[in-house]
Amino acid sequence: MADRSTTHHTITHVVAQTLRIYEKHAEIFLQQWGRKKYKRPALLKEWVALLPSRAVVLDLGCGAGQDTRYLATLGHRVVGLDRTMPLLRFARRRSASVPFVLADMRALPIRVSALDGIWAAASLIHLPKKTVPSVFAALHRLVKPEGLLGGTFTFGSNSRIKQGGWMAGRYFARWKKDELARALARAGWQVLSIRVVTNQERKGRWINVIARRN
Ligand SMILES: C[S@@+](CC[C@H](N)C(=O)[O-])C[C@H]1O[C@@H](n2cnc3c(N)ncnc32)[C@H](O)[C@@H]1O
Repeated sequence: MADRSTTHHTITHVVAQTLRIYEKHAEIFLQQWGRKKYKRPALLKEWVALLPSRAVVLDLGCGAGQDTRYLATLGHRVVGLDRTMPLLRFARRRSASVPFVLADMRALPIRVSALDGIWAAASLIHLPKKTVPSVFAALHRLVKPEGLLGGTFTFGSNSRIKQGGWMAGRYFARWKKDELARALARAGWQVLSIRVVTNQERKGRWINVIARRN
C-alpha cells in the first residue's frame, strides 16, 4: 500500500497535470464551451429556483464563465472562480462587471458562511476522490445555514486520467450514486436530489446533485 507521502504526491501530481492540460489547451476548451450559443443546463434552472433573490453565489470551476454570467443576469451576486488563467481572462472579457477570481478549489479564499449557494458544474470531477470529502466539508462551511450546493459529477467506477480523445491527460473522478450521496451526507449536506442523466449538457453519464446545508 502507498504510504501517506506517496499518496499526497500522487494527488498533487494528478491535480497539477489536469490544470496543465486546461492551461495548454484553453483555446480548444473555449472553442467548445466559450463560443457556442449558451444553453442553460437543466440542473442550473432547477437549482436557481431554490435560491433566495440577490443570492451570494460562487461558480466553482467556472471555466469560460457562461453559467456565472447567467447567474448574474438573474440578479444574483456571483463570483466565478477557476485555476486556469486563460479561461478566466476570457470570462472577464465577456462579463466585465462580474468578478472572477483565480484560485484553487482546494483552498478557497472565502469567508465562512458567506455564501447562499455554490454551483459546481463538471469541476469537482477533477479532484482525486480521496480529497473530495474534505472539500465537501470545506464547501459546507462556506455556505450559510440552508445554503445550497448544485453540482454535476462523472458517473462510473473507474477514476482515472483520460487517455486519448478530447483534452486527454485530465483526471476524472467517477462516482456511483450511493457513494456520492454518502460522501455529501458525511460532510453535513442534505441531499435534496441526486439523479443519473445521460448525454445532457455533456456526453456520457453524469450525476446531477442538489444539496442543502443542514
Ligand atoms: C469541465 S470544466 C467546467 C467549466 C464550467 N463549470 C462549465 O460548466 O463549463 C472544469 C473546470 O474546472 C477547473 N478546475 C480544474 N481543477 C481545478 C482546481 N483544482 N481549482 C480550480 N479550478 C479547477 C478547470 O480550469 C475548468 O475550468
